[in-house]
Amino acid sequence: MNSEKIDQLLNWINDLSDKTEAEVEELRVKLLGKKGEITQLFDEFRTILPEQKREFGQRLNILKKAAQEKIEELREAAASVCSPEKSSCLDTTMPGNSLDLGSRHPISLTREEIINIFKKFGYCVAEGPEIEDDWHVFGALNFPPEHPARDMQDTFFISTDENRVLLRTHTSSVQVRTMEKQQPPIRVICPGRVFRNEAISARAHCIFHQIEGLYIDENVSFADLKQAILLFAKEMFGESTQIRLRPSYFPFTEPSAEVDVSCNICKGKGCNICKGTGWLEIMGCGMVDPNVLEASGIDSKKYSGFAFGMGVERIAMLKWQVKDLRLYFENDVRFLREFETL
Ligand code: PHE
Repeated sequence: MNSEKIDQLLNWINDLSDKTEAEVEELRVKLLGKKGEITQLFDEFRTILPEQKREFGQRLNILKKAAQEKIEELREAAASVCSPEKSSCLDTTMPGNSLDLGSRHPISLTREEIINIFKKFGYCVAEGPEIEDDWHVFGALNFPPEHPARDMQDTFFISTDENRVLLRTHTSSVQVRTMEKQQPPIRVICPGRVFRNEAISARAHCIFHQIEGLYIDENVSFADLKQAILLFAKEMFGESTQIRLRPSYFPFTEPSAEVDVSCNICKGKGCNICKGTGWLEIMGCGMVDPNVLEASGIDSKKYSGFAFGMGVERIAMLKWQVKDLRLYFENDVRFLREFETL
């Protein structure tokens, strides 16, 4: 009897690892099947001399046991591996893991829509800091020293020493920064968050979003302003939209106006959204005051321009007839889901 063969087989068996279920079955046949190598050794065992039987009998039993245990171990390991071919692991009746897609916030949607309209008209987007100094929010914009906006009641101040630091109350500060950096022609829109010290209600919030615009070139007139706003209103609220300008006052524009659009809900007949007037206020605007141009180093004899500013929440409220501004900030998913498909 070949004793070396027994040792070799035993070592080979001990080293076996990582088999598929089919390979384990092949291995069982190869070793322990009817013509298997170990089975053959047992056949051979019957023919050896009686004095050798004790030694070989023990060694063959150890070999057979090692083979059986190894096969069992490999079979269990193979069964626990999950593979797509194995129908037992893949339960196609189980509900899938659906990926919940988020949706764009209505304020982002509106902001983007407004920006895209002005981009078509050739405006660039300009951005600036939310924490500002007095000069960029008030001084450069012709606010007199005693103007109420400069009061703690209306503005959030971070420091009130000589170089006052505050949260911007409008994005006109970005227009000032643009004029300081760039000579006309200037055509920018300035979207961003602004802050005002106001009690939160259905119609007002201490944080909201604005988009302001500035157009400066030679010979820019009030007619250009009116035309730009009319085009915007038609793009935003529909082709049949009309606008009307009412005289108003801002320190940084002269003349100034408040813009109304014809109510797109009742088509001007009067409803509860437009409070029976047929008109909805959407923005403030005006011709840039020469003092403002000069403060930023632009020659007011050569250049003129117009500016306008609107609240994104207000436009979004009108567009979707949302009656309470606070809904935009509470982020209740039931509200946000209504904008999922937009
Ligand atoms: N800055 C003004 C505001 O915040 C809006 C505005 C901008 C008005 C430009 C006129 C011209 O209310």
